[in-house]
Amino acid sequence: MRKHIVAGNWKMNKTFEEAEELIDNLMTALEQTELDKNTLMVVCPPFPYLEMCSEYSEDSYFMPGAQNVSDQESGAYTGEVSAAMLQSLEIAYCIVGHSERRAYYGETDAIVAAKVNQLLAHDIRPIVCCGEVLEEREAGKQLEVVERQIRDGLFHLTAEQMGEVVIAYEPVWAIGTGKTATPEQAQEIHAHIRNLVKKQYGDKVADDLSILYGGSCKPSNAREIFAQPDVDGGLIGGAALKADDFMAIAKAF
Ligand code: PGA
Repeated sequence: MRKHIVAGNWKMNKTFEEAEELIDNLMTALEQTELDKNTLMVVCPPFPYLEMCSEYSEDSYFMPGAQNVSDQESGAYTGEVSAAMLQSLEIAYCIVGHSERRAYYGETDAIVAAKVNQLLAHDIRPIVCCGEVLEEREAGKQLEVVERQIRDGLFHLTAEQMGEVVIAYEPVWAIGTGKTATPEQAQEIHAHIRNLVKKQYGDKVADDLSILYGGSCKPSNAREIFAQPDVDGGLIGGAALKADDFMAIAKAF
């Protein structure tokens, strides 16, 4: 059975003290909550707080994740963080190809593919983001755009490698805007993604693939989005910055 994953993307928020407080609050809330056995929480703080988060992660419901990784192995790449470094901190997951990285830092599908390769070579599961911008949705091109991102970012992998990947569908017009895709819109794209993966890799890989929805997901809408047959969780931005909201979303299954 494929995993339900609720991943929190903190983006560039929180000082160290605030980050500790948020993790503390999450831990307290987790102790008081019975999460569905098949649900995994992933918390993706800024790089400097990863080690602190990984110290908390002995609880098996909770895993630290990074928000980015270098597409290079090691060496003279000032300011970059490698997959080997993340592995040495026992980081289990890493977001790749987030729309903010695509839009502000020129992350192309080819770079996404190289980052995915780095992560898999270091036993870290990539959470690969895809999604259309508003003009593409208005032009009816959403299926085409997502298909290109998935093919060019992922379809060079072997079936075994693909089994380690998590995909997040995040319509860019819904990120941080308060506008959420309707459950039907999310389901349409998620089913399309699963179908593409099925055609390329077969039933087993497609059935086991966790596909997360992201974009203004919050406690008030998580339940109906997660109820869709091809939605296996969420990649949560704003609502992951408050322990209560994030827990409420994790409990939405
Ligand atoms: P949001 O962000 O929940 O604040 O819309 C989601 C994301 O960017 O991953």
